[in-house]
Amino acid sequence: MTWARRAVPAVAAAVAALAARDLIQRDHALLRNFPVLGRARYLLETIGPELRQYIVAGNNEERPFTRDQRRWVYASAKQENNYFGFGTDNDIEYTLGYPIIKHRTFGRAVPPSSPTAGHDVRLPSAKVLGAARGRARAFRPESVVNISGMSFGSLSGNAITALNKGAALAGCLQNTGEGGLSPYHRNGGELVFQLGTAYFGCRDEHGRFSLDRLKDLVAGAPVRALEIKLSQGAKPSLGGLLPGAKVSAEIAATRGIPAGQDCVSPSRHAEFSDCDSLLDWVELLAAETGLPVGIKSAVGDLGFWQELATLMRDTGRGVDFVTIDGGEGGTGAAPLIFTDSVSLPFQQGFSRVYKIFAEHDLHEQVVFVGGGKLGLPDNAIVAFALGCDLVNVGREAMLAIGCIQAQKCHTDTCPTGVATQNTWLARGLDPTLKSVRAANYLRTLRRDLTKVAEACGVEHPGLIGTDAVEILDGRTGSTPLHQVYGYRPEWGLPSPADQAEIIRLMVPEAPQGGSAPPSATAVG
Ligand SMILES: Cc1cc2nc3c(=O)[nH]c(=O)nc-3n(C[C@H](O)[C@H](O)[C@H](O)COP(=O)(O)O)c2cc1C
Ligand code: SF4
Repeated sequence: MTWARRAVPAVAAAVAALAARDLIQRDHALLRNFPVLGRARYLLETIGPELRQYIVAGNNEERPFTRDQRRWVYASAKQENNYFGFGTDNDIEYTLGYPIIKHRTFGRAVPPSSPTAGHDVRLPSAKVLGAARGRARAFRPESVVNISGMSFGSLSGNAITALNKGAALAGCLQNTGEGGLSPYHRNGGELVFQLGTAYFGCRDEHGRFSLDRLKDLVAGAPVRALEIKLSQGAKPSLGGLLPGAKVSAEIAATRGIPAGQDCVSPSRHAEFSDCDSLLDWVELLAAETGLPVGIKSAVGDLGFWQELATLMRDTGRGVDFVTIDGGEGGTGAAPLIFTDSVSLPFQQGFSRVYKIFAEHDLHEQVVFVGGGKLGLPDNAIVAFALGCDLVNVGREAMLAIGCIQAQKCHTDTCPTGVATQNTWLARGLDPTLKSVRAANYLRTLRRDLTKVAEACGVEHPGLIGTDAVEILDGRTGSTPLHQVYGYRPEWGLPSPADQAEIIRLMVPEAPQGGSAPPSATAVG
């Protein structure tokens, strides 16, 4: 008993000390929010591989992101060793639809000698956004990887700050999402401003779109492009509701709505009602702001895309970019039937739309942006081969700033402070530290894309053609990507002039190497 009487206070003091340490440290939001208790997760993570071997799920079983995929993002974000030992544990030989990237033995581009070379390599877009349509503020995006639209309201202020600062560090763009342009978006990162059906941030007191407010907004912030949101993959054709309890004074000011009242996003736009009026609106916004203007959409019925492309070809009006979001994409909250079953997955949806533009001879004039788990290098490479010029990363960027895939984004109880408006939980996320993690992840993804491009013998991922990818159909066969999706062999690449320019831009930057110095008897 004497022993117990002495041990209990000692243990309590140790736990209290541990809790204090967890509360003070800034590395792990989970521990700041859940001192001591949160350690159980890290312990399980450490011994997880051994446990899982006998009991639970494998490295590739969890969704939306498998354990391997998350480990790669976490390690990349922390600049830890993100390699995997012993060889793949994917079931390559028996997995239907598995993509294989084909390297070239004597390719044009020489891969760097060191596995870590190229971490800071520039990887700009192969197309100039807005150039084809002569927009006053056309520009070449500095990075082929950018941050997808996720609103302040859906994400915490600290998460938006971390992503915005991370975008500035990594030299990429952050899309505001449809919830307006908040003070957290003003931390140095350049922006794509998204216009949703409620026109948050650019609406008048009656909820109507206000061109003057939009012009004031983009004049006072580093906005480089406008994106009209038609739909997103996880919940196409659905409006949204932010309950009054979550409409804080900050959110109200950002969105231009009254605080404390339910905030409704309608399911349709008021400024246009068909392709013709959509194109008129695009031209109006571009003329009034000088900015490139694009649309974001999931893919369902193709009638819309046929009509849009035909009108663009025949009338000379047009969008500068098209963002295609796959049905496997993420959301803060949506009904299960929509996340699971409405709209095509990325590869199928994107290839159908790209083909329509290519058949109308517009594919070289439009910048194609992809989203839907494209923050993983293998998915991104297939997207580039299919004709994407840029990829957007949403949830992968959330993982980089601490998301643990708890899938509670819709409950306002996100344990890591990423997707919540609860000030206690959000305070756990240190935006300065996490901005560095976001930037590390973005740079690592760009480096991997560069290295795969070089392995394929080209200087830039946008130059990877459909002939470089095959889709396995089981144990014994495979089909080239262009056949799977009915592409003509020349589709999926920028125009010859854009190809020449991106090669010129990449070559001085690309770290050269690849062999030991040649001997005196070398023959070539
Ligand atoms: C928390 C959260 C909020 C989002 N908010 C928006 C939004 O405001 N506007 C939008 O177009 N898409 C929104 N999305 C969708 C993403 O921008 C992206 O298109 C989708 O998640 C696919 O990319 P990913 O697989 O890399 O996450 C949101 C996604 C998440 C996870
Ligand atoms: S609730 Fe879970 S899945 Fe959503 S952001 Fe937070 S940790 Fe990530």
